[in-house]
Amino acid sequence: MRSPNANPGKISGAGTLFGVGTGPGDPQLVTRRAWSLVQSARVIAYPAIVEIPMIVPMRPGRAPAQSIYDEGAAAIAAHLEAGQDVILLCEGDPLFYGSFMYVLVRLADRFNVEIIPGVTSLSACAAAQSHPLVARSDRLTVLPGPLEDGVLEKAIAGADAVAIMKIGRHMPRLRALLTRLGLTDKALYTSHASLPHQKACALADAPQEAPYFSMILIYKGDDPWIS
Ligand SMILES: C[S@@+](CC[C@H](N)C(=O)[O-])C[C@H]1O[C@@H](n2cnc3c(N)ncnc32)[C@H](O)[C@@H]1O
Repeated sequence: MRSPNANPGKISGAGTLFGVGTGPGDPQLVTRRAWSLVQSARVIAYPAIVEIPMIVPMRPGRAPAQSIYDEGAAAIAAHLEAGQDVILLCEGDPLFYGSFMYVLVRLADRFNVEIIPGVTSLSACAAAQSHPLVARSDRLTVLPGPLEDGVLEKAIAGADAVAIMKIGRHMPRLRALLTRLGLTDKALYTSHASLPHQKACALADAPQEAPYFSMILIYKGDDPWIS
C-alpha cells in the first residue's frame, strides 16, 4: 500500500491541507493541536480565510456525495495552489468514517497534508457509558447500522464486543435484530455523546427513534472487570 505522504509529485509552494479532528462534540475534547491550528489560522490568516461548506447527504449510496466532494476538493485545491493553508474540520477523527478522507484521496497526490487526530465517537460513547469497550484479547468489531441484517449478524457472531454506528432510521430494525440474537440485555445506547443533550442508557430504555449521532455498544461476555 502506498503512503500518500510519500508522493513526490506535490506542487511546490502550495499550502498545506490540514485535516483537523474536532472530537465528538464537547469543545473541551478538541485537542490542543487542533485548537492551536484553528486559532492561529483565524488570527494570522483571518482575512484570507474562506469557508468552504460541503453539504453531503448522509446516505449509503456513493453517487450524490461524490460530485459534492469533487466540487469541495476543487475549491480547496484553488486555495492551496494560491499558497494558502486550508483547515478542514472533521467531527471526531478525520480518518474514522470521516468525510475528510474523500477530500484526502482527491488532493494528497498534489498537496502536503497534515492530519490532526481527534477523539472518536467510539471513545466518547464508551466514556458516556463508563463501560470498557474491550479488554484483554477481546475482538472489537465496528459496524455501520445500514448494513443488511445478514451481514451484521455474521459479523456480530465473530466479535466479543460490537459498536454499531449510523443508527438513525435503522433503529427499529437494529433493535429487532439484537432482540432476535438475544443481545438486548448486553447493549448500550448513546446519542450525542459528550454534548449537553447526551443520552446514555441501556438499549432496552432507549427511545423508539434514534438520531444520526447515536451508537449501540454491545459487550457479549460478562462485564470485563468481573471476569
Ligand atoms: C460519519 S460517522 C463519523 C465518525 C467520526 N469521524 C468519529 O471519529 O467518531 C458518523 C457516526 O458517528 C457516530 N457519532 C459521531 N458523533 C457522535 C456522538 N457525539 N455521539 C454518538 N455517536 C456519534 C454516529 O454513529 C454517527 O452516525
